[in-house]
Amino acid sequence: MSIGTLARAVLGQKWFPLFGGWYRAVFVDLKKVVDCLPPLPAGSHVLDVGGGDGEMINMILPRYPGVEITMLDLSPRLGSLLSPESRKRVRLLASTSLRDYAQTEHRFPDLVLVSDVIHHVPVEDRCAFLSDLRLVLGGHATTLVVKDLEPGHFRSILSLLADRYISGDRKVSLVSRDSVTALVKATFPSAEVRSTKLFDIDRPNYALVFTIDGLNCR
Ligand SMILES: C[S@@+](CC[C@H](N)C(=O)[O-])C[C@H]1O[C@@H](n2cnc3c(N)ncnc32)[C@H](O)[C@@H]1O
Repeated sequence: MSIGTLARAVLGQKWFPLFGGWYRAVFVDLKKVVDCLPPLPAGSHVLDVGGGDGEMINMILPRYPGVEITMLDLSPRLGSLLSPESRKRVRLLASTSLRDYAQTEHRFPDLVLVSDVIHHVPVEDRCAFLSDLRLVLGGHATTLVVKDLEPGHFRSILSLLADRYISGDRKVSLVSRDSVTALVKATFPSAEVRSTKLFDIDRPNYALVFTIDGLNCR
């Protein structure tokens, strides 16, 4: 059992969310991440890949009340920190991969959010992860937002150590903005990328926004 799982069990439903929020704040200011998302028109469908506890969604929904959100995660524990209001409005697909989604769901996302997930995907599986996203899109255009941490900074080293020794993910490996761009472009060659202000306002966190047109996916 990892230290993180133990802390969750010991602190319980009452104290873990509070403690988890403080812990998370050491590494990222989620409000600043949400500030950097592209505008989300009412009715748009957001696919939150590797959604985890759902803290980000708790911040997105009050700001964009008209969006529809699907969270998927390889983990069976998904959305455990969603507020009761958020929970009513989110579809949860636990123990589900992008490939599973592509094979069973026929809802195409207007925005795909991949926040602090790629550094958990083993390096040798990252191309396949993006190829599975291409299957999900099935030729449809989308906006892909990748939020991650730039290696080589004090906070990113701390985050890496926390992921390894507190969350217990020994395969974690940070991924730079250049590597993410290269990975996405290898799968979606004509994707356009733009950087957001996140790196300037909450370094070493960054958020890249990729515009993937329908032709990219065929
Ligand atoms: C650090 S958490 C990030 C949670 C959330 N996205 C956020 O930013 O608050 C990473 C999550 O990615 C999930 N994950 C890792 N690899 C994945 C994959 N290949 N497909 C889907 N989820 C994945 C993990 O189970 C974990 O819940």
